[in-house]
This record gives sequence, structure tokens and C-alpha cells, in this order.
Amino acid sequence: MARHLITSALPYINGIKHLGNMVGSMLPADVYARYMRKRGHDVLYICATDEHGTPAELAAKAAGQSVDAFCAEQHDKQKAIYDGFGLEFDHFGRSSSQQNVELTQHFARKLHENGFIEERAIRQVYSNTDERFLPDRYIVGTCPHCGYDKARGDQCENCTRVLDPTDLIDARSAISGSGDLEVRETKHLFLLQSKLQHEVEGWLAGNGSKEWPTLASSIAHKWLTEGLQDRAITRDLDWGVPVPADVWPELAAEGKVFYVWFDAPIEYIGSTKEWADAARDTAPESRDWKSWWYEADDVRYTEFMAKDNVPFHSVMFPATQLGTREPWKKVDFLKAFNWLNYYGGKFSTSQQRGIFTDAALELLPADYWRYFLMAHAPESDDTSFTWELFSSSVNKDLADTLGNFVNRVLSFSRKRFGDEVPAGAAAGEAERKLGEEIARLLAEYEGHMEALQFRKATASLRALWSAGNSYLEEKAPWLEIKTDKDAAALTLRTAMNLIHLYAVVSEPFIPASAKAMRGAFALADDTAAWVTGEEAAALAFVPAGTPFTVPPVLFAKITEDDLEAYRARFGGGDDA
Ligand code: 2FM
Ligand code: ZN
Repeated sequence: MARHLITSALPYINGIKHLGNMVGSMLPADVYARYMRKRGHDVLYICATDEHGTPAELAAKAAGQSVDAFCAEQHDKQKAIYDGFGLEFDHFGRSSSQQNVELTQHFARKLHENGFIEERAIRQVYSNTDERFLPDRYIVGTCPHCGYDKARGDQCENCTRVLDPTDLIDARSAISGSGDLEVRETKHLFLLQSKLQHEVEGWLAGNGSKEWPTLASSIAHKWLTEGLQDRAITRDLDWGVPVPADVWPELAAEGKVFYVWFDAPIEYIGSTKEWADAARDTAPESRDWKSWWYEADDVRYTEFMAKDNVPFHSVMFPATQLGTREPWKKVDFLKAFNWLNYYGGKFSTSQQRGIFTDAALELLPADYWRYFLMAHAPESDDTSFTWELFSSSVNKDLADTLGNFVNRVLSFSRKRFGDEVPAGAAAGEAERKLGEEIARLLAEYEGHMEALQFRKATASLRALWSAGNSYLEEKAPWLEIKTDKDAAALTLRTAMNLIHLYAVVSEPFIPASAKAMRGAFALADDTAAWVTGEEAAALAFVPAGTPFTVPPVLFAKITEDDLEAYRARFGGGDDA
């Protein structure tokens, strides 16, 4: 038994996430956390909403709310959806928490003490109407290269040229539309990442990053090869972690806050502290946040994220941690994902294209989505969601191969042998062969889960379900019953043991259905524990005489009519 710290990239607060966000961070982290818990490890799965930055301020403004009221409301909304998806966080915190404010300021102080933070004056566009400095992308105007009149201060969307805000013709604020802009000099804190380049390289070389998925390690090395740049870590915003006044009185007086990407990863630690503080009055010893993060050599730390987040987690956050000269836990394994597309085009929050997590749960139970998304996780390449692929996975794998097996076995046995698992003949050659095959597939499944290869793991899971179907077809208890009742009873008892095994091993992917399968048998609770290869081969979890019930159909098939309705509601890719 080891200690496993697991985090998934913190979802931004500014809107409901789509399925592409879900499959690239929180869902695989939950599947892995559930698996590791089932294997008996001590697991801490931490996540939170990422609440600072201009997007949060603007979204609150658009909603006509104060930023803190907006964030509080959105946090609860997101949390309710994640509960609906069956995500079992140990804690789902908020990056605006007091714990994170204190930790972020602590990190900045330490970096400053060690000579890794410097004050520098920069020239930035100020909007007199909005009474604020504007980030480059909140300045719009006409592109000097192609004449496009909605070019942004950082880049022209039309001709893709990289711009400086001062290049724009008729520049104006994207917030108020006002052209009353001027360039002002202002001071900011810079993190001297260039000074930490060698240390980050050394750390990456020695931390097992060679075992990371190529996607993660190649992005990390690309950033290091290009060279780490010093980076502004403060902003002129009203909402954020304030710069500590005791260290930088002038900047604090001007109301500067830390940049959202500086405080967001620190919230992994902040959220762990929130988790511990939540038990301060009841069981403080049970939650020692620091033991997970500080001098935590016995902890294995795994991070989950989409590829755009890799530079921050593989290079920049470790640089921040190293620069404190304190023994903070750094990532051991970084699991990165490519994009899930919608019919080959991008899921898009701003254009509301694709399927959002709230709408998904209105349509179908979480397990349908969990299974599909993990079976098609964009691990080695981008993958595409289509309704056709989704319905064929649900219908074939979940409804036919798993659901139908469970229902068929239990209904038939009840009809012929009553409400208890029948005894029947002793296991024979077919059962021995089945047991061997099951043990082999289980070992394969475990190997893929240990390697965090989720598509391969779902393929092994499917193979386990299929092995049951093949056995049933071969033995055909509906024929056996006509000539040899004991033989039919043996087949059904064996198949019921498979159902129990499926409940245990499928739980990380389809927890609600696993619960229904397990709940079919009146067994003591501890039998939900993981199984060894030998136990799997013996298929003797559910003894003869165990009472059982037939659960309602586990997975409903998606019909042609459903498909048409989904395509009509969400767009069937015709705009891709
Ligand atoms: O890309 C994103 O959605 C960010 N909110 C991820 C932050 S991850 C971490 F560093 F907090
Ligand atoms: Zn242009």
C-alpha cells in the first residue's frame, strides 16, 4: 500500500465545461483514483475551481454579478455536475480560498528571498473609460496587415499574424468599446525563470519523466529547449491574490494581484489544506495536508491535464516550487491528453459547439458518458465525438455485451431455479478454461491501469465482458436445462460469479452500474474488494444459496429516433 496524490487541472470558473474538458482531466483522474482506492492504496484526489483572472471578471460582469458572488454560484453549479458524473474528489476546493491566498503569498515571499523575483517597469495600454490596464487580447482594432476590423491586440484571427496592441489601427477597449486609450508605464513582478532553467532540467532528467506519455515529455522538453523566459506574475485587476504589502508596499498600494497562472497550481496545495481544515474541529489528525506535500517522499504524485496545460505543469510550476528552496512535492507522473473534437471540429465554449456536461447528464446517466469517453480517450491522438460512434459503443458494449448478459443470466436463473444462486454440478473443463482466460484478461487490465493506458484498459474490460458471453453461448443453459438441470445450474452459477467480478473490476469506469450489479447479490460488504488472479480464475465469490434479485435493465439502447433528436439538438457535425 502506497500513498497516491492525484490532481486534475482546475476547471475555470467562467462557464460550464464540455465533454472535451471532462475527458482530458477530471474523468480519467477519477477513474484512476477509484482504481487505486480499490487496490487498497491510500489515495487523495484533489481538484478545485480556478477562479481568478480576467475571464472570471468579465463573465461576472456579463452576468451582472459581483465577482465573488458569481464565483460562489458557479462553483456550486460545477460541483453539482461533477457529483452527477460520479467524480469522487476527496476535496473540490476554490482557488480564491484564504488557504490559497496565504500559500500563494508564501510562495512569492520565498521566491523573493531567494532572488527569483524582480520588479520591472513595463509599458501597457490603459483605458481611461474602464479605469484599468487592458490585457493585449482585450484591445481590438483594425489589423495593419489585412485590414480585418476585429483583430485582437495579441493576434489577428483573420491573417493569424502576431500583433502588438500598438500595431492596431483605431484601437479600442474590448470591454467598453472606448477608444480613449493611452500607454502608461507600470511596475510588475517578474519570476526569473531563466535562472531556474538548469535546475528544472536536472529535476526532469531525474524524476522518471522518461516514463511519462510522449505527449507530456515532448512538450516539457520543447519548452526547455526554447529556453525558459522570465515572466510577469502580477496583473492590474481587482480580483485575485493581492501582492503582500510587507514585501512590495508600492505594488500592493496600487492594488496589484498575482497572475491567475501563478496562483492556480498552488491551489492544488491550497485545496488540500481546505480539505484538512474542513476536519479541524472533528478529526484533525486524520487529515494532515502537509504530509502529502512537504517532504513527502513516500507519496507518488500523478497529474491529469489536456496538452495545453503541460508547459505550466511540467516546467513552470516545478520552477516555482524549486525556487522556494523548500521541499515541496513535485509531479512524479504527468498524464496528458490530446483534444476530443466534435465531428472533427473543436468543442468550443465561446461558440457553444458540442456537448456540455450539464446537457449530457440531462440526456443520459453518467456511466454512459464515462464509459464512452474513456474508451475513446484522446491518448495517442486527437479523437472525434460523433453521435454515431457514441450510440454504437453504448449499444454494443454496454447494452449488448454487459447489460444483456447480466439481465439474461439473472432472469433465466430466477425463472428456472428461484431467488437463490443455484448449486448444480461441480465445475468442469469449460469453467477451468474460462477461469484461466478471465485471470489472463484481468492481469492485462491491471497492467494497463497501472500504466494509465485507459483505452487499452477499457478494451481489456470489454474482453472480460465478452468472455462471459462466449461462455454462455457455448454452454447454452437454455438448452442444457432440457436434458441436464445440474449442468444448467452450474453454468448459471458461474455466470453469476462473472457478474460479481464485473461489478468489482468495472467500478472505476461505470460506478453506478457496478453498484447495481453488486447489489443484485445479498453478500457482505467486504466482498467488493479487488480480486486476485487466483480468485478470478476460481470464480467462487457468490456461493450457491445466495439470495439475488434481478436489477432493472442496466443500459437502455439508443434508438434511431434518439439519434435524430440528438443530432437536431446539438448539430450533427454539418457545421464542422
Ligand atoms: O486551462 C485551464 O482550464 C486552467 N484553468 C487549468 C489550471 S490547472 C492548475 F494549474 F490550476
Ligand atoms: Zn490580419
